Amino acid sequence: MDSLLRFTAVLNQADRLRKTLLAWYDESGRDLPWRQTQDPYAIWVSEIMLQQTQVRTVLPYYRRWLAALPTIQALAGAASETVLKLWEGLGYYTRARNLHRAAQKIVEAHSGIFPKTFDSAIALPGIGRSTAGAILSSAYGQPHAILDTNVRRVLSRVIALETTGNAAEKHLWEVSEALLDRESPFAFNQALMDLGATVCLPRNPQCLLCPWQPFCLGQQQPDRFPVRPPKRKRPQKQAVGFFVQSENGFLLVKRPEKGLLGGLWEFPTIEGAEDWRIVFGSDPICVGTVEHAYTHFEIAVAIYWVKIDGKVEPQKLLDLWADQKIVWEPTENWSNYALTGVAHKMWRKFKNFRP
Ligand code: ADE
Repeated sequence: MDSLLRFTAVLNQADRLRKTLLAWYDESGRDLPWRQTQDPYAIWVSEIMLQQTQVRTVLPYYRRWLAALPTIQALAGAASETVLKLWEGLGYYTRARNLHRAAQKIVEAHSGIFPKTFDSAIALPGIGRSTAGAILSSAYGQPHAILDTNVRRVLSRVIALETTGNAAEKHLWEVSEALLDRESPFAFNQALMDLGATVCLPRNPQCLLCPWQPFCLGQQQPDRFPVRPPKRKRPQKQAVGFFVQSENGFLLVKRPEKGLLGGLWEFPTIEGAEDWRIVFGSDPICVGTVEHAYTHFEIAVAIYWVKIDGKVEPQKLLDLWADQKIVWEPTENWSNYALTGVAHKMWRKFKNFRP
């Protein structure tokens, strides 16, 4: 069967698919805090946090965020440091910066009320088609479809979709739109997300428990779907990171506001193969290496411990980070700074280091 026929075969059953999914959701749907509210702000925050992060991880962050910044106005007026600190540990910090900028835009252009039209919602920073659909269907009951990673997997399996890339994406949006229950878009979309998160799992899907098992064309080989495009290897980078210790504590450097992890703090790090050893009067102590994967590259950071005790020329060292904001802080004050994921990994390595 080619994909068009498969698509038609599934859509012919659309009514039954909706009914069985909603019945399953009534029984087995998860009780999540953003489903207990119709506050578009709270729902928006949850959707952004959930974009690349699992529900279990998001829950404490979501509660803490809403306690600290309960309204769009509060977020719009908050300092960047506060926003980043509340996000610290969730990763993909562009999400936090976009939330902040979008809140300011909503205050300026939409009288502080989350927009009710799809076009205005999707024009906000950080809100794509699926997120707009999730927010508008949840907060305002509007019939917009969604297509996040979980939903993509569920729908690819249901129609046993063989294609990849843009063609697949277009097809899956059509399926999501066509299946959407226009009377209950909120419940339908949430149900679809739960099906992907709890039953139609990436590995070992629980097909016997699935309400769509009678309709699913991919159930013989669920692991094949979604069909993966050939993988490109991420570039590998090397860096050297330092715990520079003086009697005032350790050196922390703020990353430039623009760019990757902008505004977060880290231990001074040099990328590439610069000859950093010339900066030191004597060899620093090697602590070990940490590795970290970002979306577009992977990095290995060799960690050194530099004690400033007269042998090192601090000025020469500090010149390396002359353009950036720096502080010297003892470990007990570090919790006041939003640190990068690599910085946390470096610190864990350093804590366990015995020379
Ligand atoms: N992932 C993205 N949005 C979600 C939601 N509203 N509930 C559960 N998981 C989600």
